[in-house]
Amino acid sequence: MRISKQEFARRRKALMAMMEPNSIAIVPAAPERIRSRDTEHHYRQDSDLFYLSGFAEPKAVLVLIPGREHGEYVLFVRERNRERETWDGYRAGPEGAINEYDADDSFPIDDIDDILPGLIEGRERVYYAMGKDSEFDKQVMDWVNTIRAKVRSGATPPGEFLDLSHFLNELRLFKSAAELRVMKEAGEISARAHVRAMKHCKAGVMEYQLEAEIMHEFQMSGARFAAYNTIVGGGKNGCILHYVENSAALKNGDLVLIDAGCELEFYAADITRTFPVNGKFSPEQKALYNICLDAQIAAIEVAKAGNHWNDPHEMTVKIITQGLVDLGLLEGNVNELIKTEAYKEFYMHRAGHWLGMDVHDVGDYKVGGEWRVLEPGMVMTVEPGIYVAPDNERVAKKWRGIGIRIEDDVVITKDGNEVLTKDVPKTVEEIEALMATV
Ligand code: GLY
Ligand code: MN
Ligand code: MN
Repeated sequence: MRISKQEFARRRKALMAMMEPNSIAIVPAAPERIRSRDTEHHYRQDSDLFYLSGFAEPKAVLVLIPGREHGEYVLFVRERNRERETWDGYRAGPEGAINEYDADDSFPIDDIDDILPGLIEGRERVYYAMGKDSEFDKQVMDWVNTIRAKVRSGATPPGEFLDLSHFLNELRLFKSAAELRVMKEAGEISARAHVRAMKHCKAGVMEYQLEAEIMHEFQMSGARFAAYNTIVGGGKNGCILHYVENSAALKNGDLVLIDAGCELEFYAADITRTFPVNGKFSPEQKALYNICLDAQIAAIEVAKAGNHWNDPHEMTVKIITQGLVDLGLLEGNVNELIKTEAYKEFYMHRAGHWLGMDVHDVGDYKVGGEWRVLEPGMVMTVEPGIYVAPDNERVAKKWRGIGIRIEDDVVITKDGNEVLTKDVPKTVEEIEALMATV
């Protein structure tokens, strides 16, 4: 594991320091999800629970109780069970939760209804991520009602319920040196995967076969999973923002848009590249591509400490709108077209998002109603796009069905930024040169 036990302990300590006195925090594991009948999706632990513990098993609840004499950090986990472990795999059990995951105290998850109300009792405040999982919301209320039912015997139920997400999101937003090392490696692996896809691309290849090349590189590099469903969109499929069917054959003369990033040790990368199926951009593709690229490069330049979250986005809107006017896809005054949001016909999403354990990571984008100031340790994507709908009759035919996005992962540093995903070519010349070598 690349994140040390000491770092997990630091995170718990930092969170407990933010909590009000006499409080308790409860963090549940992610539910297991069925794919079909009795076949499950691969289990992925909830990012919050993993962030605080490194514990990846399902059916667990993490509890933090600052100041508790018998231990502040409690894990409820599945008990060890020889038969179940033969069928489904290893379990740490309560003993392992203490020995391997540093819990101060641990109990079987099956006993939680008997034990947790006792831990909540006497605490004035309960922190949990409200509204994330309605099953769990109900469970918390059941535990509290168990205490309420005993008030006449002297039990004191909590009086306040507070959202834990706010504190946790704030902690997760700022990445440590160890987290940045993992994210950098995730970026490098993902960059190699995109290079591999470019090299294997030719007319007739199926979109999902390029996805296979991407997955091959992820897994051969030690990243078992993609951080999100890979998008491979040839031609007009590149205009569908969340196209994951990946079921068409790639055509000579089209572009292909690939949006793919691996998950490494619970941290995501998120890269998009758009390149010609046959290795050579057409004049129209090149013209639109270079606007998108100029926008992306200029946006990365303003992604730095002291600037606002929205500055990179505004930069992309300005450059893309101006570019579309220059090419005749939009008509009118650039400022006016920005004010009326006319550019949204071609560029309908934002220029990026926070990146971390979740691909669209946690963290506020505004503080006190204002766009947040960028600070060192924040990681964001910069991903402008230009999409000309195949049925857009307002523009000349030659532009229709071209979809382009260029996306990199950027960490804000003390004196600027570092692009974690810079190892994939992105200029027309670099891409054409790479594709010409195979
Ligand atoms: N791959 C999802 C995104 O780019 O936001
Ligand atoms: Mn993406
Ligand atoms: Mn993204």
